Amino acid sequence: MIIASNFKTNHTRKSTREFIEVVNEHLKTDSKSDVYVFPTATGLDEFETVSNLNIGAQNAYPTQKGSFTGEIGTEQLDEFGIKTILIGHSERRHVLGESQEEIAKKYAFYKELGYKIIYCIGEPLEVKEQGLEQTLEYVYEQFVGIDTNYENLILAYEPVWAIGTGVTATTQDIQDVHSAIKGKIDKPLLYGGSVKVANVAEICAIDNVDGALIGTASWVKEDFIKIIELTKDI
Ligand code: 13P
Repeated sequence: MIIASNFKTNHTRKSTREFIEVVNEHLKTDSKSDVYVFPTATGLDEFETVSNLNIGAQNAYPTQKGSFTGEIGTEQLDEFGIKTILIGHSERRHVLGESQEEIAKKYAFYKELGYKIIYCIGEPLEVKEQGLEQTLEYVYEQFVGIDTNYENLILAYEPVWAIGTGVTATTQDIQDVHSAIKGKIDKPLLYGGSVKVANVAEICAIDNVDGALIGTASWVKEDFIKIIELTKDI
């Protein structure tokens, strides 16, 4: 399974290092899990990791360097050998106002450089309430301008109403959306939204779920390791 932790705006540089070192130690005896950690930009650093532990950026601007106040580019990522990036996360779309056009531009830039991209999609509550057809229509709009044949692409379906709310999508919800997306795009597909120790095994066992992208429940290293343990044989 692919298990990813999105730190969002949590952890310091020091606690990020502690987290990564503990997870890395754990993975020395688990080569089956494919693990990703997305620290804050200030938590990025040079990390010695086993091959199935990947450190990525939560965000970066589509530039090598330049005048984009508050942003980072590949010059900063290259310093730490970062070649993985999260693009299209719902908080960047809905809280920070990134448009599909900006997201597509970012995607094309990082694709060109061969980055591994975890690309997020998901619908807000008012769309979910209109039914599956509208949900899929909304989700497909989030693929406009995105080359879904890209070899280093992992998708993450994260319904906005399930993120950080404690409300997880039902098995049926996940199955419906995942099988529809998989029918169109043959890429690994993670589920995200209130995944935790108590539900991760059940979620990862659903057809067409290739892993989980986790926020809140992944920030405690012991819990994240439990999550990795619980899913390694699925
Ligand atoms: P939570 O696990 O806190 O719901 O967040 C999910 C998420 O947004 C991961 O990217």
